[in-house]
Amino acid sequence: MLNEKCTVLEHVEIGAGYRWLVFSAPVMASGLVPGQFVHVRVPALEPSALRRPFSVFDAEDGKVTLLYKTVGRGTAALNGAKPGDEVEVMGPLGHGFPVKCDGVALLVGGGYGVAPLHFLAKRLPGKKILFAGGRTAADLLALDRFARIGDVEVRTATNDGSAGVKGLVTDPLDAAISEIESGGGRMELFACGPDGMLKAVAMRAVEHGMPGWISMDRHMICGVGACYACIQKTVRGNSRCCVEGPVFAAKDLLWE
Ligand SMILES: Cc1cc2nc3c(=O)[nH]c(=O)nc-3n(C[C@H](O)[C@H](O)[C@H](O)COP(=O)(O)OP(=O)(O)OC[C@H]3O[C@@H](n4cnc5c(N)ncnc54)[C@H](O)[C@@H]3O)c2cc1C
Ligand code: FES
Repeated sequence: MLNEKCTVLEHVEIGAGYRWLVFSAPVMASGLVPGQFVHVRVPALEPSALRRPFSVFDAEDGKVTLLYKTVGRGTAALNGAKPGDEVEVMGPLGHGFPVKCDGVALLVGGGYGVAPLHFLAKRLPGKKILFAGGRTAADLLALDRFARIGDVEVRTATNDGSAGVKGLVTDPLDAAISEIESGGGRMELFACGPDGMLKAVAMRAVEHGMPGWISMDRHMICGVGACYACIQKTVRGNSRCCVEGPVFAAKDLLWE
């Protein structure tokens, strides 16, 4: 794990409160595994020096890309980082996704939850389908970037029907599971997004007897296992999302 001083290369708003942040991280970029996260020190929050955790959307050629939504004080302060500024970034952190899959990889993302799935889709061999969901079309993010990977089929759902199927992302997911099952195929689930969606995906993995890999989004403070702010209940007791996670096997998760 490194604490690297990184130069902001690009910081662009893409609408509906979402932004791309690209920074140079020559050492860290080569060691990141899909599903791992970085802990970004937000300069404008000094002197409290608090960090914020973000999944890695992409890591290539010494550059790391994040896709983030402005939701509160830390992310609003991060908005002020300009190309040329230096940000301190700790990583790679946590336990990522397995980068192998037996059968079709079903990637399920809600809102900015597509971020680690993009990095995964680039590294995962074999057939992949992305199921992207959101409240409206504006929450379906980075679909053009998934298209650029070349071998990812994309299916979408929105609550208001402004893009894709009207309903939940689990609607097209259920259709695909039935289709693959009836053809005798194998599949695995990989998911990141809001808790309700993650629980629904994890339950499907268990009910259908297939491997499921779930990236949990918990409030974090230290990011390195010391403060116990990020607890997730699992069959092994209380697990720290920042160390034992954020990616857990679906069968190990216990839900409220
Ligand atoms: C492993 C991991 C990966 C993440 N990856 C991304 C990512 O790729 N893109 C992205 O936009 N965000 C991501 N997040 C969430 C991001 O860290 C939070 O949105 C951010 O820390 C909020 O900071 P803030 O100071 O702006 O908000 P705060 O002022 O701290 O909180 C504002 C609101 O957001 C809620 N909130 C704060 N942290 C979280 C959280 N972790 N999950 C859910 N709600 C939260 C608070 O309860 C509050 O309602 C990730 C979180 C984790 C743990
Ligand atoms: S954030 Fe401190 S233990 Fe996980």
